[in-house]
Amino acid sequence: MIISQLISLAIATLIYLNSITINRQLNAKLPNFNEPLRNLTFGKINFLHTTDTHGWYIGHTNQKQYSSDWGDFISFYENLKNNHNDSDLLIIDTGDRHDGNGLSDLTSPNGLKSNDIFKNVDYDLITVGNHELYNADVSKLEYDTMVKHYGEKFVSTNVLYMDDDGNWVTFGNQYRYFQSNVNGYNILSFSFMFDFKMGNERVEVLPIMEIINEQWFIDILIDYSTNYPVDLIIIFGHLPVSHDWFEMYQLHSILRKYFPDTFIQYFGGHSHIRDFSIIDELSTGLQSGRYCETIGFLSIDDLKNTENITVDRKYIDFNLHSFMHHTNHNEIDKFNTDKGLMVSQKLFEYSEELNLNEVYGYVPQNYYMYAAEYYHKDKPDPKSLLRFLENSILPQLIPKICYDDNNSDNDKAEPPFLLNSTNNDRIILINTGGIRYDLYKGEFTKNSLFTVSPFKNKWNVIPNIPSEIAIKLQWILNSGDYILSNGIKLKNSHQLSIKEDNDYNINDNYINDNYINDNNINDIKLSYGYTTIDDKGNDGDDTIHRKIPVYKVPNVIQTYENNGNAYTDVVYYDFIQPFILHALSIACDGDKQLFKELITNVSLYNDCYNEFNLGELLKQFAIKSWQ
Ligand SMILES: *[C@@H]1O[C@H](CO)[C@@H](O)[C@H](O)[C@H]1NC(C)=O
Ligand SMILES: *[C@@H]1O[C@H](CO)[C@@H](O)[C@H](O)[C@H]1NC(C)=O
Ligand SMILES: *[C@@H]1O[C@H](CO)[C@@H](O)[C@H](O)[C@H]1NC(C)=O
Ligand SMILES: *[C@@H]1O[C@H](CO)[C@@H](O)[C@H](O)[C@H]1NC(C)=O
Ligand SMILES: *[C@@H]1O[C@H](CO)[C@@H](O)[C@H](O)[C@H]1NC(C)=O
Ligand SMILES: [Zn+2]
Ligand SMILES: [Zn+2]
Repeated sequence: MIISQLISLAIATLIYLNSITINRQLNAKLPNFNEPLRNLTFGKINFLHTTDTHGWYIGHTNQKQYSSDWGDFISFYENLKNNHNDSDLLIIDTGDRHDGNGLSDLTSPNGLKSNDIFKNVDYDLITVGNHELYNADVSKLEYDTMVKHYGEKFVSTNVLYMDDDGNWVTFGNQYRYFQSNVNGYNILSFSFMFDFKMGNERVEVLPIMEIINEQWFIDILIDYSTNYPVDLIIIFGHLPVSHDWFEMYQLHSILRKYFPDTFIQYFGGHSHIRDFSIIDELSTGLQSGRYCETIGFLSIDDLKNTENITVDRKYIDFNLHSFMHHTNHNEIDKFNTDKGLMVSQKLFEYSEELNLNEVYGYVPQNYYMYAAEYYHKDKPDPKSLLRFLENSILPQLIPKICYDDNNSDNDKAEPPFLLNSTNNDRIILINTGGIRYDLYKGEFTKNSLFTVSPFKNKWNVIPNIPSEIAIKLQWILNSGDYILSNGIKLKNSHQLSIKEDNDYNINDNYINDNYINDNNINDIKLSYGYTTIDDKGNDGDDTIHRKIPVYKVPNVIQTYENNGNAYTDVVYYDFIQPFILHALSIACDGDKQLFKELITNVSLYNDCYNEFNLGELLKQFAIKSWQ
């Protein structure tokens, strides 16, 4: 946020807080400054942790709970560091800075402007996520600018990059050994990416299971455990810290072999949750959510007294109330730092250049992915984003071929036929794993095109399936986790990490109650938000929230245009074709001949992703119906 010198900016809205004028990004709302907060506990060494930001540096303009921008965050960090200058404060990012927001995804290569914003934070340790590795141009940008900017602090122990001379090099530093500034702790750090196979041709991820048997890795452990003082080992990287993540435990047992008495702290990411796990008496792991909703905080006291180390953690909501409270500020102009203001200003300029605030319509209500009940016994919840997509968004899809990209699929001899579908029924299937975020009441902008689903999928079709077979597909795909014989799962790791409240009842008093009876917080209206339960209990969230229900969501949703015809055309994201074909073979009930016949005319249905991906379909609807 920025003060009065920016009033002239057309995109800024003026809001009055303690009679000081503030400008907010894209009309972002202010948080509720009366919400009850838990305090942070500081130790001799403390950490701030970000992960899976996916370009959300403008903040969540339609959600006051996460309405700060990256400039506010920088002011928070600088204030916190000043206030606690007798202890160490390290700041760490564990990757996935791309894909999911207009700021990152509207430039070519993706990340050009968002990286420029991000790198104003002086991270002590930073690494890549899988979203830095899909596209070769993105990996090159990351290597050429971010690795260069952060130097030895950019660490990737198991990710390799092919540089412009064709040499395979580590994606940054292989590991980092350094001393903390204030208390002089000796820190050995490594960074690991989960076993990721879908990277571009210029990157390679060496599986952790291989690294732990590599001599060079063991040599580092031997060298540092015998020749150097090590007070703390930091393993940060793009993999979850949950107990069921096998790779982390394999790594941990090797580390323990060489460092039986050293504290090992993990920082993780990728599954987009808030989590804290206790791994052994001298080791814990922290994971700090997603999309600039959360800043993770961790304190350790006291590393030199290994008999009695105290670790604490908090998940800080990304808003000014939290940021100002934890830094003991109640005046915005005293909270803002020069650098924070500069970054907010830069965000304004980039938003304007990219037209992020171009409004296509006004979303009339909130639509939720997990907080609304898709499977309602009587009638589906009108707040279900998935039902809304089925009923109103997917039906807008039409067959159309653009040939507007350089995809080699289009070089196939015969152009895919344009479906003459007037006589058939139609089913459109998408996997819910491709839907990334809720849709909130307020302006539907150019930025919103990327937040619900940033993916540029194309659509394929299997025409002329007997309707009684076609209607079985969704049911087959939604029975269980749906894993193909080669181990590929239909659910992504974000979905697998979600713990559903299976018997959540929307009529529960718990939900209808506007107040929660708690002696400490009587009569304060709580807002919905994270109510995390982790290995340390239920007091991790800095803001005391009401619980958001988490309902079961299907693996796939479908629009079924049923006119009672004998045949149905089945349309789906090309990305999920292996799952569709497998489900169709099951639906054919062992009749291999029939299956073979049915798939003879599988073809492209719509490759115009600049007009017909999910974000663009939402935009069409906004223009038509949300004025
Ligand atoms: C948090 O810290 C502030 C300032 O030190 C104090 O006034 C307040 O009582 C603390 N709140 C809680 C819940 O401990
Ligand atoms: C730490 O902060 C205190 C209080 O603001 C200040 O007096 C002191 O100079 C600071 N120390 C360092 C090393 O910056
Ligand atoms: C361990 O730490 C706790 C909290 O700081 C303290 O109350 C306790 O006395 C310590 N115990 C020992 C044995 O040092
Ligand atoms: C296709 O590739 C050519 C050559 O690489 C490039 O100039 C052109 O812009 C590309 N077309 C599209 C639509 O991406
Ligand atoms: C496939 O397309 C051909 C040519 O249009 C048509 O003759 C045939 O019946 C189609 N088969 C199926 C199973 O749709
Ligand atoms: Zn992510
Ligand atoms: Zn990831």
